[in-house]
Amino acid sequence: MRTDSGYARGSLLTVDGLGVDEVARILELTDRLAEMAAAERAKVLAGRRVALLFYESSTRTRTSFELAAKSLGATTTLVSDKSSSIEKGESLKDTGLTLRALGAECIVLRHPAGGAPFVLARTTGLPVLNAGDGMHQHPSQALLDLRTILARLGLKDKSVDEHVLEGVTVTICGDIRHSRVARSNAMLLPRLGAKVLLCGPPELLPEEARSLGGVEIVREFDAALAQSQVVMMLRIQRERLAGLEIDLADYVGRYQLNEERLRAYAPKAIVMHPGPMIRGLEIQGEVADSPQSAIEEQVSHGLDVRAALLVRALVRERRVAA
Ligand code: CP
Repeated sequence: MRTDSGYARGSLLTVDGLGVDEVARILELTDRLAEMAAAERAKVLAGRRVALLFYESSTRTRTSFELAAKSLGATTTLVSDKSSSIEKGESLKDTGLTLRALGAECIVLRHPAGGAPFVLARTTGLPVLNAGDGMHQHPSQALLDLRTILARLGLKDKSVDEHVLEGVTVTICGDIRHSRVARSNAMLLPRLGAKVLLCGPPELLPEEARSLGGVEIVREFDAALAQSQVVMMLRIQRERLAGLEIDLADYVGRYQLNEERLRAYAPKAIVMHPGPMIRGLEIQGEVADSPQSAIEEQVSHGLDVRAALLVRALVRERRVAA
């Protein structure tokens, strides 16, 4: 197990080793920041410098970290692989050291290689926030998903502990094999008492997924849905399929979340999707736009949770609006 210990305080590299107490503290800080007046909030990280280092495309994660940092008064700079010296072959280590020399105090990193945030954190000594590394982890997504579930289930004001999600079953359906979101959620949610069902065909959900612990594999989507209060849909990651052939028509028939299926098996379930979603493939557009959908709320919670992660990374004394 690889954890954040040994790296700069305030790093968030993985949900491995992220204790329930720390999750509770992050969500508490999220609430306090969300309740602050804009002018007050803009003082929290005034003058601090955050670098956004993105080697893969992103809409939600990049924009929410950037807007969150700016709302707290921090200065941000975006370095992407498409328009920087990374294109000329500069290494992750040298890019990180360059950003540090330019005054960056925290780096938000998205990278196609699992483990890259650990390398960056070790070489720079700076707090690093993992914004998604390959097929490995997406810890801030798991935290914003948790906050979305708590809010939708009316549990937001309950204390976050090992029992807060007891009696809640979450189905994660789709391309689990390539999904860092699935991995982070499958690790985090059972720690809070949730039952997690993983659903998908063997090509996208190998039996080895059981090794995540605390999860069950249910191959039949309707059977999983019928047990669930929450369903998280995942897109097929074509960019990571590497020769794997999927019969899309067959996949849609068996695993698409459509109105008919939702009405029949989970008429009250919360529908989630980390995005980007492919309407008409893993999810029908009508379902994504339905009152059961919490997809836009996930994005909004992302802004709040990522603000808290930036404060956690940059403020040693975390008495923000105590
Ligand atoms: N959920 C997520 O990571 O979305 P982006 O790729 O748009 O950041």
